[in-house]
Amino acid sequence: MKGIILAGGAGTRLYPMTRSVSKQLLPVYDKPMIYYPLSTLMLAKIREVLIISTPEDIGKYELLLGDGSAFGMEFSYCVQERPDGLAKAFVLGADFIGDDSVCLVLGDNIFYGSGFTAMLQRAAHKKRGATIFGHYVNDPWRFGIAEFDSEGKILSLEEKPQNPKSNYAVVGLYFYDNEVVNYAKELKPSKRGEYEITDLNRIYLEKGLLDLEVFGRGFAWLDTGTTESLNAAGEFVKVIEKTIGIKISVPEEIAYNNGWISKEELLKTAALYDKTSYGDHLKRVAMGEYFSKIQEER
Ligand code: TTP
Repeated sequence: MKGIILAGGAGTRLYPMTRSVSKQLLPVYDKPMIYYPLSTLMLAKIREVLIISTPEDIGKYELLLGDGSAFGMEFSYCVQERPDGLAKAFVLGADFIGDDSVCLVLGDNIFYGSGFTAMLQRAAHKKRGATIFGHYVNDPWRFGIAEFDSEGKILSLEEKPQNPKSNYAVVGLYFYDNEVVNYAKELKPSKRGEYEITDLNRIYLEKGLLDLEVFGRGFAWLDTGTTESLNAAGEFVKVIEKTIGIKISVPEEIAYNNGWISKEELLKTAALYDKTSYGDHLKRVAMGEYFSKIQEER
């Protein structure tokens, strides 16, 4: 399975902060925002990732993330000329995807909660169809909304509905079989001029091939698109890290636990970030300090 991170967009809801800096490079407490969606793909055991961003910003992502070898991964980069919709990712990424299945994660979506890794791997191992994820929200008119029955079967999908049929938003994490490339190529832009991911999901729904996984109330999904939610996400990560006493969504740590990088490689990055708590964390991971904690969780 391949992974795509969409890190383009206009970021207008974060102006003036995002006039000269790409949203997904902004800090969420102690690390760049894109580390969170990258960690999500890594927990799904996806090693080949395409990063899509704007012509102005793509170089900055390459500078930050390189060829992926620091994470034991392989990164490719691609430009999206205009923010003309999420479904465009599969057209731009068609060659990269090849004959594989694919997971798309939005660059401004943060996930945290117990059982997440198992959920991801379940979706990643599915042979046919697509999986989307739902999370309860109080302002459903702002999101793509899924209506479903008591068995979790999806009844309808609507993009930013005026009269929402449920309070479950479809979050920015999607798993598809290889057919998605053909479906995406056939899509027409919506009234607002975007290639909509909801239209893509509706194709799978009509074929009876769309599964919904619903996050429980102990699970946090944060989208960091506004000043308010960006600051809330920073606070959230800070509180979680201070309370549990370990850092979350650290790609080098996940790479090490996945067996993708050696202790020496981990320590090399730790030395690079020597003056920070991030570097200190990596050093402690390399010394095996968190091993027992991680084992307990499993
Ligand atoms: P949005 O939050 O829908 O849009 P945006 O980032 O352009 O922000 P704003 O509404 O403030 O102008 O985008 C969700 C995520 O998807 C975000 O990480 C940016 C990314 N994105 C793309 O990479 N390409 C696109 O065409 C769109 C619409 C979004």
